[in-house]
Amino acid sequence: MKTKVHAIAGVIGFLSILSFWTSTLFSEIFGTPEMIAFVKNMILWGMFVLIPAMAIAGASGMSMGAKRTDAPAAVAKKKRMPIIAANGLLILLPSAVFLESRAAAGIFDTWFYAIQVLELVAGAANLTMMGLNIRDGLKMTGRVESAPVRQAVGSNVPVIDARDNGPLVAKNVPALIDSDQQILQAKPVMALCRCGASKNKPYCDGSHNRVDFDSRRASERTRDDVKIYDGEHITVHYNRLICSHAGECSQRLKPVFDADRRPWIEPDNASPEDIIAVIDACPSGALRYSLPGEKPQHAASGSSSITVEKDGPYRVAGIQLSSARLAKGANPDMFVLCRCGASKNKPYCDGTHHDINWREEDR
Ligand code: SF4
Ligand code: FES
Repeated sequence: MKTKVHAIAGVIGFLSILSFWTSTLFSEIFGTPEMIAFVKNMILWGMFVLIPAMAIAGASGMSMGAKRTDAPAAVAKKKRMPIIAANGLLILLPSAVFLESRAAAGIFDTWFYAIQVLELVAGAANLTMMGLNIRDGLKMTGRVESAPVRQAVGSNVPVIDARDNGPLVAKNVPALIDSDQQILQAKPVMALCRCGASKNKPYCDGSHNRVDFDSRRASERTRDDVKIYDGEHITVHYNRLICSHAGECSQRLKPVFDADRRPWIEPDNASPEDIIAVIDACPSGALRYSLPGEKPQHAASGSSSITVEKDGPYRVAGIQLSSARLAKGANPDMFVLCRCGASKNKPYCDGTHHDINWREEDR
């Protein structure tokens, strides 16, 4: 509801300034003094629409933006809002009053045109910033697609778009399967639940709005940091932020990967081939390896699919992720995404579903 009010108020404000701006330019280039005075009078009356619209858009935007401190689009919008408000109250409103009084008195002197130019410049600046805010708002609500998603549309490139405070929108995904390898219905475009509250899992039913889902990382999130474990013949690179902590690595090769030991990765305790085989099996892309003199490499992701784990996350392979919160060193097309809504490291699963004993039937 707040999102809708914010969007409507923002669009009304934008259209009001646009109409003031174009009617001013038109009347002063082509119109008579009477027409200019009429337009100036209408603009003053139009302030009764513009000011409340801007106040509502600003207040609702700030209130919603307070929850969104790590999404670049939200941060940019919040920076623009005070400038738009100051521009409106300190330049546009006094200018409109001044210009209306001069035009009504038939005085079109140097002062009139100086203030008129100032008003047009300030109006153009506000139109630009408000236009950018509308674009960013559309991006945040998923109505404008991000670049990878745009590329996917019209092509067969599979992509997942992690929507801010909303679902994962998957496009061109050839296979959606459950943990028993049963094929689930996959559409060319489908919204998958990541708040954990949908009654139609794994698909989104809009419940993220009902539960006021917050897709930010938690304050106690893991640091986005790649740690390097040097060995004589192979180096292992690990970003804990991406790890889903399912423990495949330690189950397969405990001498190298042992979470109870420090350092927890000892690359000299097995052959490079055995370590590469484990990294190839890491579902999250948290692990990479490099051989002497070479760059770090990820495991090959294989064929494109999303596996919906029972009472757990989405395991994704061969599909690009589009998100405002990609981690350092993340595998571009192999990762494990939170489905329960409780991960501290969203959009990645951090194993919290296990800690809280999340059950997909619970909600
Ligand atoms: S996600 Fe990768 S690094 Fe994390 S526990 Fe599983 S196998 Fe190990
Ligand atoms: S599914 Fe949410 S933390 Fe793993």
